[in-house]
Amino acid sequence: MSPKSALKAKPEPAPSKATSRPALLLAWYDRHRRRLPWRAGPGQASDPYRVWLSEIMLQQTTVKAVGPYFEKFVARWPDVTALGRASQDDVLRMWAGLGYYSRARNLYACAVAVTGEHGGVFPDTEEDLRALPGIGPYTAAAIAAIAFDRRTMPVDGNIERVVSRLFAVEEELPQAKPLIQQLAATLLADSRAGDSAQALMDLGASICTPKKPACSLCPFNEDCIAHAQGTQETFPRKAPKKSGTLRRGAAFVVTRGDELLVRTRPEKGLLGGMTEVPGSDWVAGQDDATAKRRAPELKGLSRWQRKVGVVTHVFTHFPLELVVYTAKAEARTRAPEGMRWVPTATLAGEALPNVMRKVIARALNLPPGRSS
Ligand code: ADE
Repeated sequence: MSPKSALKAKPEPAPSKATSRPALLLAWYDRHRRRLPWRAGPGQASDPYRVWLSEIMLQQTTVKAVGPYFEKFVARWPDVTALGRASQDDVLRMWAGLGYYSRARNLYACAVAVTGEHGGVFPDTEEDLRALPGIGPYTAAAIAAIAFDRRTMPVDGNIERVVSRLFAVEEELPQAKPLIQQLAATLLADSRAGDSAQALMDLGASICTPKKPACSLCPFNEDCIAHAQGTQETFPRKAPKKSGTLRRGAAFVVTRGDELLVRTRPEKGLLGGMTEVPGSDWVAGQDDATAKRRAPELKGLSRWQRKVGVVTHVFTHFPLELVVYTAKAEARTRAPEGMRWVPTATLAGEALPNVMRKVIARALNLPPGRSS
């Protein structure tokens, strides 16, 4: 701009039109950022270990649910080398209840790799981060931006919602992902990439919510195409969801005094390495009589009692219904091969997935959430 034109007395445009979107976003973040246990304070350096741990925990899990688990993990394993030297069993036990257990196995494998192959220091580029177990494109971008201020934008569900509304992206998800990624990158400030990403995450979580977004509080409200149209709640566009086919099965809860019969699931596959009560396979269309035939055989067992109703659980790819049977074993009854007795008082120390917590709670007539 020439000195002459700079001297022309132009009226100042409205700030939200003149200020760039990245700057508006950061100004909003500086006032309204959430205080989260893994987040560095304003102006403080991020700890890559805490950023990585939180990002793995936050995959498919809410901030609220992650909080206490994050605190427990960092109290027990304050850095990546401490975690890399732990046992996988201890890590799985500490993870129990957070779900999606392959994350816990990958978390541990990643800590072992960073400890053994990177001298306990996380690599600081997206590419090198992606080479580590459990770190996909989203998580690599999140860690690179938040821990190392690399200029990249991780796009999660919250960010997809904000961006698809701001630009009124008509294309449906998941096809719209590359476009949304491109548009999201336009919201990165030249520096403070990590804060730009976290600002969008917070905006999506607290203002640009799926239902009834609080548009009047949004820093983009004068600029948002969906808001101008009054169509904000209709974005992001999505093809109707196909849910998996219902699977059915039986779970057998055998008690011997204050002990419970359990086994460990195979390492590979759904809930690999986790603890469960014996049960049938989980199969679509399975009838109750077929599933009941998978009951474990023990000497001196009472008759099986069927609990009223079923326990339901929704996995990512399918919903599950389990019929729960209970029986009592005499003192000193031996556990069948591959199974073991555990005191019910120490169930909290077992790597019990949520579906099993529900089964045990139903069997022992505990209120939900009291099986550990
Ligand atoms: N969701 C995923 N990563 C997050 C983060 N770092 N902060 C808040 N929410 C998140």
